[in-house]
Amino acid sequence: MIVVIGSINMDLVLRVPRMPLPGETLTGGAFRTIPGGKGANQAVACARLSGKVAAGGQQVAMIGCVGDDAFGATLRAALVGDGIIDSHITTLPGVASGIASILVDDNGQNSIVIAGGANDLLSPAHIDAAKELIEQADIVVLQLETPMATVVHAIKLARSLGKTVVLNPAPAASLPAGVLELVDYLIPNEIEAAMLAGVSPDGADVQALAAALQKLGSDNVIITLGSKGVHAALYGGDFTFPAEVVQAVDTTAAGDTFIGGFVAGLASGMDEAEAIQQGQRAAAWSVTKPGAQTSIPHLHELF
Ligand code: RIB
Repeated sequence: MIVVIGSINMDLVLRVPRMPLPGETLTGGAFRTIPGGKGANQAVACARLSGKVAAGGQQVAMIGCVGDDAFGATLRAALVGDGIIDSHITTLPGVASGIASILVDDNGQNSIVIAGGANDLLSPAHIDAAKELIEQADIVVLQLETPMATVVHAIKLARSLGKTVVLNPAPAASLPAGVLELVDYLIPNEIEAAMLAGVSPDGADVQALAAALQKLGSDNVIITLGSKGVHAALYGGDFTFPAEVVQAVDTTAAGDTFIGGFVAGLASGMDEAEAIQQGQRAAAWSVTKPGAQTSIPHLHELF
């Protein structure tokens, strides 16, 4: 089983010809609400890219919080629709579900502002209440859209139970000392990697960044570089994986899709290189489709 601990958002998405300037009003295209949130997107990607459970695919469970509003019900239903176990998704009374306000321009680039809502109330007590579920997991996946104290508590619990810990340190933030030592696979983008290494992202050498993060304790560091591919510093050395060239329509959740493809690959017995390539194939597919969970492929669509 794969357990994903993290955020669940409703994405409020508007297409724009270009990003507005400060103080400018622009006329956009159609408005859509699309299930998102880094945690939920990664859970959906793990589920869709694992294949059918009956055929050896992994069961996926999510730990997170939604509000008792209409978005919360829709977000839970979307996850259940993908076969994700929702027994530890808590509906919090009187609280709004998390939302992300997203602009996507004609180049497929996005700009995102989040209101955490219920995600901000995921607590260490929710993690402790899910201990039996975490005990059943092989891999535990986390990001940073829920409170840092909860993320750190969950990482410590997962490690104490002998689980493989995957951390996507997004959005960029610094981590308390000692946390990276508990992470088996750290998967940042370049900006997040620079933030964790305590250097400026401008002109930072990606191999040096990965080495610095390994020195801080993470066994394996996989830095996603968008259209420039992936740099992986693994036990066995450093490797570069070029990206497939595609025409991007919307890059929202490309990183989440990569992580889901990678984790699903590892869980199905692939080595790291094969799992990275599966993640890249899935992410390349996803950027050719609009939205977050609407753009995540099923395993059979990659071949
Ligand atoms: O990684 C993409 C996600 O970031 C979006 O779905 C949005 O909800 C934000 O969490």
